[in-house]
Amino acid sequence: MSRGQFLIRGMNLAIIGTGYVGLTTGTCFAEVGHKVVCVDNNEDKVKSLRQGKMPIYEPDLEDMIVSNVSAGRLEFTTNLKDAVRDCEIIFIAVPTPPHEDGSVDLSYIEGVSREIADALTPDMGYRIVVDKSTVPVSTGVKVLQVIERYSHKGVDIDVVSNPEFLREGSAVYDLLNPDRIVIGADSQRAMDMMKRVYQPFNAPIVEVDLASAELIKHAANSFLALKISYINAVSAVCEKAGADVELVAMGIGMDKRISRHFLNAGLGYGGSCFPKDVKGFINVAEQLGAPMELLKEVERVNTAQLERFLGRIRKKLWVLRNKKIAVWGIAFKQNTDDVRESVAVKLIKRLCEEGAEVCAYDPKAAETGAAALAGYDVTICDDMYECVRDAEVLIVATEWKQFATANLVKVRELMRLPILFDGRNIIHGENALHAGFEYHSIGRKTLRPTED
Ligand code: UGA
Repeated sequence: MSRGQFLIRGMNLAIIGTGYVGLTTGTCFAEVGHKVVCVDNNEDKVKSLRQGKMPIYEPDLEDMIVSNVSAGRLEFTTNLKDAVRDCEIIFIAVPTPPHEDGSVDLSYIEGVSREIADALTPDMGYRIVVDKSTVPVSTGVKVLQVIERYSHKGVDIDVVSNPEFLREGSAVYDLLNPDRIVIGADSQRAMDMMKRVYQPFNAPIVEVDLASAELIKHAANSFLALKISYINAVSAVCEKAGADVELVAMGIGMDKRISRHFLNAGLGYGGSCFPKDVKGFINVAEQLGAPMELLKEVERVNTAQLERFLGRIRKKLWVLRNKKIAVWGIAFKQNTDDVRESVAVKLIKRLCEEGAEVCAYDPKAAETGAAALAGYDVTICDDMYECVRDAEVLIVATEWKQFATANLVKVRELMRLPILFDGRNIIHGENALHAGFEYHSIGRKTLRPTED
C-alpha cells in the first residue's frame, strides 16, 4: 500500500513488546491511521523510544516513528494496565526464545497473558488478544485458558493468531506491502474486527481457524529454510561437478511452482527466526507424534555448509594460525545490525579459534558484533578498505550491497595475497578476476588469473 493512505476511523491498538516485530508492527499500524500504544516493561527502552532513539537499525523505521509520535498516533509506555483499558485490540509481540532442547520458551507469553488478565474488567466491554509472536500450534488456546483463569468473572474476550512475516532489513516495506495477512480466529466477531485493522492494507486476507494460523507461521519459515538448505546441498554437488549453482537456481527458479526467491546459495541461514523456528517446528511435530525428520536434514545441511567453506579456506591457506584474514560482514544478513545466530559470527569465531588474526568490518553491526565476539581476539574496523590491509584472504560473509560494488582493484592493492572467498556469491567473478584475484565462491568453479 502507499504511505499516507489513512483510515476513516482508526482503531485503538495496544502492542505488548517493542522488539523487532512489536516496534515495527506498531509503527506501521500508526502509519495507516490507527492509534497505537506500544508497551514494554523495560523503562530505559521506553524512555529512549520517547526521545526518538532507536533500539535497532531498520531502514525507514526511525523517520516513521518520529512522524507518527508527533502526529499523536503512536506512544510508548510501561503501563500495560492503561493500554488494556484503552485499546480494543491487544497484540502480544514478546520473545519466544528456544530452550536447550529446541522447544519454545513460552514463559513471556504466559507472563503477559496473566498481566492482561489482571488488567481486564467486565465493564471494559469486548477485547481481542492477538498473538503476533511465533508460537507452537495450540498456544492461543492456552493463552485463552490463562486469561480466563486469572481474570475477573464476566470479561468478554477472544484470542486470535495473526502471525507476522516481515524480514529484518526490509521490515517496514514488508509490513506495508504484505503478500498476505493471516488471521486465525475461532469467532466471527473477532475475525470481523481484525479485518478492520487490516482494511488499509491492500493484501489478501487468509481467514482461518486459530490452530491453522499458528501452523502457517512455523510451516512457512521451515519451508523457506528448507529451500535455502536445498540450494546449498545442490551447491555442494555443483562444486564437485564443475557446474554453476547460480545458473541452476535460475533454471529451476523460472518454474513458477518453484520460484527463484530464497534460492540463494551461501553460508547458510542464520538470524533470530529460521534456526529457532525450524527447531521449534521439529519439536512441536515430535510432541504431536508426527515427527518431521526432513527438517533435521535441513539443519544438518545448514551446519555442513559453513564446515565445507572452512575446509576450502584451510585447503587454500594450509595452516590458519597467524594468517591475517579479513572478513566483510558480521550481521546475519544485509540491512540490519542484528547478529543473532549470525553465520558470519560463527565463522569469525572458528577462524579465531584456529589462531588466525581476524579483522572484520560491517556497515551497521560493528557494535552488536563486538558484543557477540567478546572474548575473541578479533579487530573490528570502521572502514571496509582498512579491514583488508595486509590480509592474506578476504572473506565475504554477509550479503551487503556495498561489498558487491567494492573497488576490487583498490582492495587487491591493499592485500598481501590476492585470495577472495565469497560466501554469499555477491561479487562479480569476472571483476574479481580482472582485479587480479583468485576468486572462490559457493557452488561455482574457482576463477584463477592465467599466468603469462
Ligand atoms: C525470516 C522470514 O523471511 C520472514 O518472513 C519471517 O517473518 C521472519 O523470519 C520471522 O519469523 O520473524 P529474517 O530472519 O528477518 O526473516 O530474514 P531472511 O531474509 O528470511 O533471511 C534469513 C537467513 O537466510 C539469513 O541468514 C539470510 O542470509 C539467509 N538466506 C536468505 C539465504 O542464505 N539464502 C536466501 O536465498 C535467502
